[in-house]
Amino acid sequence: MSEYPVIAIRSVELGVPDLDRAEAFYTKTWGLSVVARLGSVVYLRATGRDHHVLALRSHSCAEILSVSFRVLQKEILDRIEKGIVAAGGTVIEATALNHEPDGGMALKVKSPEGYVLRFHHGDVLHGPGEPRCAFPCRLSHVNLNCTNVDATSRFFETVLGFRLTDRSKAMVFLSCNQDHHAVVLADSAVDGLNHVAFMMPDLESVMRGSGRMIDNGFPIGWGVGRHGPGDNVFAYFVDPFGFVIEHTAEVLQIDEHYQPHGPEHWVWPAGRTDHWGIAPPKPAYVKDAQLAIRFATPAKEGEQ
Ligand SMILES: [Fe+2]
Repeated sequence: MSEYPVIAIRSVELGVPDLDRAEAFYTKTWGLSVVARLGSVVYLRATGRDHHVLALRSHSCAEILSVSFRVLQKEILDRIEKGIVAAGGTVIEATALNHEPDGGMALKVKSPEGYVLRFHHGDVLHGPGEPRCAFPCRLSHVNLNCTNVDATSRFFETVLGFRLTDRSKAMVFLSCNQDHHAVVLADSAVDGLNHVAFMMPDLESVMRGSGRMIDNGFPIGWGVGRHGPGDNVFAYFVDPFGFVIEHTAEVLQIDEHYQPHGPEHWVWPAGRTDHWGIAPPKPAYVKDAQLAIRFATPAKEGEQ
């Protein structure tokens, strides 16, 4: 497998209006653990090696604050910094030592459509641990609403080195490692967050994780089912603040020989919404939630 400049999606940072409630939900119900606290931010890890997969920050409303990726070499941070400006984006925080608990070097930028993206190198990793049934092991992907899918896909491919893996009628799938997708762009009337997907060890974990959500009063919003592009199993939920979150597993692993398919390939019989044909149609409240979350306008460098 040839090397990608961006090698992994690592974490997301969500702004929440009730930090205590968010921490309680994402630990006891969603299955993450607190790994650090700094000011009004709580950092939550999964069972895998990433320092954290979710940062919860006290915020005036539910908004996404940033999506974090890891890069192969420090020099790639400089390359992305230049590329962002050339592509019409802006640098929010130039490459520098990261003073948050995950350490290393970090770069924070705003893409041309207003996505706030962070890139890390040398960030803290936990030792290898055993996956735990029904508990997330890492982040899988973010799905971003996108008003100009072609332009944004080109940005991810040319500036960040992602590869197009599939294109359905409504979505573009982009990869930065062996996972079929780390970023999905959903053709939409708005730019923002569609959903965040957390990787589970296996199908059994998706089912048991869904059971834990139902036990705690959070019904399955969509699923359980198996997607077409990426072939992953899924269960979607809406969290207490309106963020759509997904438990997923069995994501297709690809190499450089993978051939993308187009919209004509990814079609279902009428009424079907997943590969198995068992997921009921997605209800309106989930569709609405998938369009409701925007990126916060970030503070300029030096402000907090
Ligand atoms: Fe997803």
